[in-house]
Amino acid sequence: MGLLLPDLSPDFFLPATTGLTDFCLQNQLDVEFEALNGQLWLKSNIPKERPIGIEVDETLNRHTQFFKKSSVYKDNLARALGIKPGVRPHVLDLTGGLLGDTLLMLAMGAQVTTLERHPVVRFLIESALHNSSHPLLANFQFVANDAASFLETCSPYDVIFFDPMFEDANHKAGPKKEMRIFREVVGSDLDAMEIAEKAQTRALKRLVIKRPRLSQTLINGECLQYQGKSTRYDVYLMFK
Ligand SMILES: C[S@@+](CC[C@H](N)C(=O)[O-])C[C@H]1O[C@@H](n2cnc3c(N)ncnc32)[C@H](O)[C@@H]1O
Repeated sequence: MGLLLPDLSPDFFLPATTGLTDFCLQNQLDVEFEALNGQLWLKSNIPKERPIGIEVDETLNRHTQFFKKSSVYKDNLARALGIKPGVRPHVLDLTGGLLGDTLLMLAMGAQVTTLERHPVVRFLIESALHNSSHPLLANFQFVANDAASFLETCSPYDVIFFDPMFEDANHKAGPKKEMRIFREVVGSDLDAMEIAEKAQTRALKRLVIKRPRLSQTLINGECLQYQGKSTRYDVYLMFK
């Protein structure tokens, strides 16, 4: 099967499929997309499960509403990024995924540049972004690239955020449904340690690594930790 796309009307935005078609063939991966509410979604191989995609406008509006009632400065991610009154860093998010963290950072007022290397995920992101006209996207840039090559040549960023896929040894119930399907397609990020070490050379102020709450740190060195119910942010401060 490889890549299966629905029949689309000529005015429906279709992100470039060149890399995606080759990727599915080379990896013998069957992925099927469906069109829903103006964008493309990844179908689950399990009947009746909702397809996977990114609701950019809805998510940004929900976060923005939330931060009208609850102070941004209390949020663990905001604290990890160094967001304070009058301080909104430019964040390089190395691992876009379904943009959960990126959209949260945008709603917190940060400027964000996000990378994603996986062709299937990149395709979902580009479709979702094209379907949104949210004003906060003025503070956002998406780059379909691998962090390894991007970090070689990019200028330094105040803050670099890194959330690689991990084997969740501490999660007894298993990953959430969306993450399970996502994990089937994307797999684990086995080069995470190398990328984190490279990121340390490009962060001006801090490198923030998102980890499962009870897991070990990804890299050596002293770090501040902000712990939530299931995740933890390890913050490596730079003294440059
Ligand atoms: C755990 S998910 C990120 C989830 C994301 N933070 C969110 O909230 O939706 C990891 C994602 O980063 C991507 N990724 C991992 N390593 C990468 C790298 N070196 N360069 C670019 N993307 C990478 C994976 O393809 C995957 O889509």
